[in-house]
Amino acid sequence: MNNDLNIALKAARKGVETIKSYQSKALNTREKGNHDLVTDADLETEKNILAFIREHCPDDEILAEETEAHEKMSDAKTWIVDPIDGTTNFAHDFPVYCVSVALWENKKPKVGVVIEVTRNEEFTAVAGEGAWLNGEKISVSNTSNARDAFIGTGFPYNDLSVVESYLKLFRHLMEELQGIRRPGAATFDLCCVASGRFDGFFEYSLHAWDVAAAALIVKEAGGVITDWKGGDGWLFGQRIIAGNPEIHQLLLDRVEEFIPIEQREAVV
Ligand code: IPD
Ligand code: CA
Ligand code: CA
Repeated sequence: MNNDLNIALKAARKGVETIKSYQSKALNTREKGNHDLVTDADLETEKNILAFIREHCPDDEILAEETEAHEKMSDAKTWIVDPIDGTTNFAHDFPVYCVSVALWENKKPKVGVVIEVTRNEEFTAVAGEGAWLNGEKISVSNTSNARDAFIGTGFPYNDLSVVESYLKLFRHLMEELQGIRRPGAATFDLCCVASGRFDGFFEYSLHAWDVAAAALIVKEAGGVITDWKGGDGWLFGQRIIAGNPEIHQLLLDRVEEFIPIEQREAVV
């Protein structure tokens, strides 16, 4: 196995172990921002993942949600970690929450690992080599009709500035598409695009740790990822559209139609 993938996978599995040790305990939960929860499990999971990475890759840089959050990255090897993606689900014992570990270098993704904890699904990718679910190669769907398209999304919850236009977009998509789901973990949504469960996904207000690993998994599965203007500013730009090539284009067109240009601008 690719050595970086091996480290990412082992680090993510450490994270899963830590999360599972909290599943039967009373959780200490607080709001760190508007509607933005953090629990003791998030903090300990991140601590254990970072300890593993630092032990094996002491010279690499780290960007991690709870203790090493920043909105930029150098060209150096950088590990990007979301210890629990889907904390609100986790805090309510609602299924679908993930550990996400990515390695980037020269501002490009090299490996990505997302593990959905409740079903123990391990999604992995290596740049140029492909994407896998529990060791089996995966690829995006070939749905091309809007009527057959099943997509995921997330609701913005701490920056509500786009809600009015978002609602108009939803109104339209509810009628046009087969179905829309909001599982509550962006990493999982993206992995569902990669494995062909979803045909597309879009969300506003995401951070690098939400998308760094899963976006590579989508790309390596033959999918397309852009920001809301069709560009590549999706890592730090807080706006993402993913999909198989046809449904990605359809979602990009609809976002252009319903979201005003100033709200589509990636954050830089
Ligand atoms: C959140 C989840 C959620 C998305 C939020 C993210 P967290 O991550 O991915 O699906 O809608 O925008 O912040 O806070 O649970 O790591
Ligand atoms: Ca997250
Ligand atoms: Ca998180």
